[in-house]
Amino acid sequence: MAEPKRYRAIITAVERYLPDKVVTNHDLERIVETSDSWIRDRTGIVERRILEGEATSFMATEVARRLLASRQLDPAEIDLIIVATITPDMFFPSTACLVQDRIGASRAWGFDLSAACSGFVYALATGAQFIESGAHRRVLVIGGDKMSAITDMQDRSTCVLFGDGAGGVLLERSEEPDMGMIDFEMHVDGAGCEHLHMKGGGSLFPASHESVDQRLHYIRQEGRTVFKFAVVRMAEVSLSLLARNGLKADDLKLFVPHQANLRIIEATAERMHLARDKVMVNIDRYANTTGGTIPIALSEACDQGRLERGDLLLMTAVGGGMTWGSALFRWAI
Ligand code: ACO
Repeated sequence: MAEPKRYRAIITAVERYLPDKVVTNHDLERIVETSDSWIRDRTGIVERRILEGEATSFMATEVARRLLASRQLDPAEIDLIIVATITPDMFFPSTACLVQDRIGASRAWGFDLSAACSGFVYALATGAQFIESGAHRRVLVIGGDKMSAITDMQDRSTCVLFGDGAGGVLLERSEEPDMGMIDFEMHVDGAGCEHLHMKGGGSLFPASHESVDQRLHYIRQEGRTVFKFAVVRMAEVSLSLLARNGLKADDLKLFVPHQANLRIIEATAERMHLARDKVMVNIDRYANTTGGTIPIALSEACDQGRLERGDLLLMTAVGGGMTWGSALFRWAI
C-alpha cells in the first residue's frame, strides 16, 4: 500500500482566454468547399475563435494574469510555469519564459510541454509532482494553442476542425487529505506519428522553399484513424484510472474530455456508460484548441456551477504522438 501523500496538489483557480474574432462554418464555406451542415454533423462544431496579430504567449499571459488576479497573488509567489502548447511563439525561448517575463514572476522557472492535444493533462500531472514532492507551493499550468498558425486553409478535412484559445489552472499545496489530484495515467505510442503530425520546421525538414512548397508547416492527419484511436483510448484510459482507484464512472460529478469532435466525446461517454449531463461539451463554440480545450471547458463548467467541493473530476485527452492520458481530481474549492 502506498504511503498517503503529505502534500496534495489542489486546483485553486481556473481561467480561460478566447480571442474576440469569431469564424463561423458559413465563413469557411467561402474559403473551402465545405458546408455548415457537413461540419456540424461530422464534428459538432459551429464556430471557432481566431487570434489576429498576436501569438500563443499573448493568450497564455492573459490566462496567467487572470489566475493571479483570481487568487490575489503577487507574481513572485509563483514557483513554476508550465505551458502545454504545440504552437509556441518560437522554438526558443519557450512560451513559459515569455509568460514569466510579462507577468513578472521573478522567482519562477518554467518550460513548455509538447504532447499535442494531451498537453494539458500531461502538464497537470507534471506540475502536481512538484507540489506533492514538497519542492513547490504554487504552479501555473497553462494549455493553449494558436492552431490557425499551423492550419492549412486549403485542406478542408483539417481546417474546419481547429480554433485558437488558452486556459489554465493554479495548482497549490494543501495538506488536506484526499483533496486535489488523486491519480493520473499517461501513455504514448510513437508509432502513431504517421497518422497525425506537422513535419516542417524541425531538424528533419528545416524551413526551406521546398518545405513551404510541400506545405510541410501545416498539420496533416488521417482523420478516420485518429477518430477510431481517440474513441477507444479515451474510454480505456479513463476506465482504467477509475478502476485502479476503486471508482466507477457513475462516481464522477464531471468528465471533461478533450474537445476534438462531438462524435468522439459521445462515443467515449457511451463506452464509459456515463450520463450525458456529467460530460462537459463546448466544442460547438470553440472547435479544437489543442492544449486549450480542457482548461477552457473546465473554466466554463466552473462558471456554470457544475463543480462543488468534494466532487470527483476526470479530465481525459488523446493527441498527436499518439499521446493520451487521464487525470483524476477531487475538487477542493
Ligand atoms: N467539408 C465537406 N466534405 C468534407 C470535408 C469538409 N470540411 N472534409 C472531408 N470531407 C469529405 C471527404 O473528402 C470525404 O469525401 P468522399 O467520401 O467523397 O471521399 C467525406 O467527406 C468523408 O470524409 P471522412 O474523412 O471519412 O469523414 P469523417 O466522418 O471521418 O470525418 C473528421 C472527418 C471530422 C476529420 C473525423 O475523421 C475526425 O474528427 N477525426 C479526428 C480528428 C481529430 O480529432 N484530430 C485531433 C487531433 S489534433 C492534435 O492532436 C493536434
